Amino acid sequence: MARSSQIARLLAGRRPDDREGVIGRMPARRLEEHPRELFAPLGPTYDRVGAALSLGQDPLGRRFLVSRLPRGGHVLDVATGTGLVAAELLRQGFEVTGLDLSPEMLAVAHRRFGDRVELINASAEALPLDSESFDHLTVTHVLRYVADPGATLAELARVVRPGGVVALLEFGVPRGPARLLWGLYVHTVLPLAGRLLRNGWQEVGDFLGGSIRDFWERHPLQRQLEWWHAAGLHGVEVSGGTRQASTGSRCGG
Ligand SMILES: C[S@@+](CC[C@H](N)C(=O)[O-])C[C@H]1O[C@@H](n2cnc3c(N)ncnc32)[C@H](O)[C@@H]1O
Repeated sequence: MARSSQIARLLAGRRPDDREGVIGRMPARRLEEHPRELFAPLGPTYDRVGAALSLGQDPLGRRFLVSRLPRGGHVLDVATGTGLVAAELLRQGFEVTGLDLSPEMLAVAHRRFGDRVELINASAEALPLDSESFDHLTVTHVLRYVADPGATLAELARVVRPGGVVALLEFGVPRGPARLLWGLYVHTVLPLAGRLLRNGWQEVGDFLGGSIRDFWERHPLQRQLEWWHAAGLHGVEVSGGTRQASTGSRCGG
């Protein structure tokens, strides 16, 4: 199933159907458009700037995420972006399909992988994929961008075979004295760095800290664990810190 023509079409300006209705305080259409607009200009600089702004933590987080999967099989990498998790999965010998909302980010992934990784332009909220069609699934930084994170997690679990693993990476908020430093970094250093870097990074610098804090205020860990159980994922393990990896296995394996 070649998806590159789909990516080219989307880059030419075609948009999926708009959805009607209002979710929370934001119209549904606006909610999906925000990540698409936020990530559209970032592709060419994402790998270098992301690594620098994360102070080297992002590459470690991705490696840790992939290390949580049992070896072998076909993995769906959701929110694959420019393909950094997918590249680590390939290095570890997995067959990989990448999926992302942003055609611009996928265009960079396509240049990186050519035909080695199938790429799908779609939202994590409604996967155009058969149930139980992947051995495992990785997903990075996507639940903050969707209207209903619990329903999205259930949708991700749907495409994993019984016994397969869902591994999710999300930004966390540290506790104790580290919280002060974290606040200083995301609310002062990041916005300043964004202004200096430009090329779309100003929007990221202004948005990211508030988005992470707001997500954790609205969805404390206990609530998130309930999503995992409701999605039919058991044996859930969560590692803390500013890069939080969570894993769980699809029931029935
Ligand atoms: C911070 S990037 C992560 C990219 C990559 N996985 C990494 O580790 O660097 C987040 C990605 O999520 C994608 N995204 C945001 N909302 C999405 C959604 N609803 N469905 C699929 N992808 C989404 C964005 O387009 C972006 O490429």
